[in-house]
Amino acid sequence: MNPDQERIVRFYDRFGAKQDHQGFYEDAALADLIGASDFDRAHSILEVGCGTGKFAARLLENILAPDARYTGIDVSSTMVELARDRLSPWKDRATIRHTAGEFDFSDLGGPFDRVIFTYVFDLLGQAQTRAALAGAHSVLRPQGRLCAAGLTEGETLLSRGASSAWSLAYRIAPYAVGGCRPVKLIDFLSPAQWRVLRRKVVVSALIPSEVVVAEAV
Ligand SMILES: C[S@@+](CC[C@H](N)C(=O)[O-])C[C@H]1O[C@@H](n2cnc3c(N)ncnc32)[C@H](O)[C@@H]1O
Repeated sequence: MNPDQERIVRFYDRFGAKQDHQGFYEDAALADLIGASDFDRAHSILEVGCGTGKFAARLLENILAPDARYTGIDVSSTMVELARDRLSPWKDRATIRHTAGEFDFSDLGGPFDRVIFTYVFDLLGQAQTRAALAGAHSVLRPQGRLCAAGLTEGETLLSRGASSAWSLAYRIAPYAVGGCRPVKLIDFLSPAQWRVLRRKVVVSALIPSEVVVAEAV
C-alpha cells in the first residue's frame, strides 16, 4: 500500500458512519445510476469501496433479484465492519471483504454482471483509475456493466463554481474534503473496451456528480 492509500485508510477508518451523511449530494446521482443500470437483471454484483454498505442495502432490499449475490470490498476496516453489520440480514448472499487496495479482483468469485464504484474514482490518481477500470473489465461478463457515480466538474455556471471551489479546497487541504476531488471518468473509458450507455452530470446542493454506465466490450 502506498502512502496515499494509507492516508485514505486512516481517513475512512475515522470517518466511518459519517459517510452516510453525504446523501445531500450523492442521493440524486445514485437514483440516476439505479435507473440506468438494470440491477434487477444482474445475478452477481461487485462493489469496490462499498463504504458503510448503504448502497448495497438499498439494492438488496428493493432491487436485486432474490438469487442475486453481492460482494463488497473496502480498504477501511471500520467500513468493512459497518457494511457487514448493515448487510447481516442478507448474509447468505452478501459478502464483504477487507482488501489492501489492489485492483486485481480476480479472486472475488466473478465473473460479475455489474461492478459498482460510487464516490471512489474521485479518490484515485490517474494510474489507479486505469488499473481499477482494467480490473473491473477483466471480471465483468461480456455485456456486463460498469456502474459508477462520483464527483465531477460542473456544466453550469453555479455548479462549475462549486466544483472549482471543491478542487481548490482539495489542493489546499485534501482531507478537509475527504481526499476526493472532481474528475471526469468518461475520459478514461476507451471505446475499444467500453460502450457507454449513459453519462450524465447530476447536480444536487450545487455539487455536480458524474453518473456513468458502460458495457464491457
Ligand atoms: C467516499 S467513500 C464512498 C463510500 C461508498 N461507496 C458511498 O458512496 O457511500 C470511498 C470509499 O472507498 C474506499 N476505498 C478507497 N480506495 C479503495 C480501494 N483501492 N479499494 C477498495 N476500497 C477503497 C474507502 O475506504 C471508502 O470507504
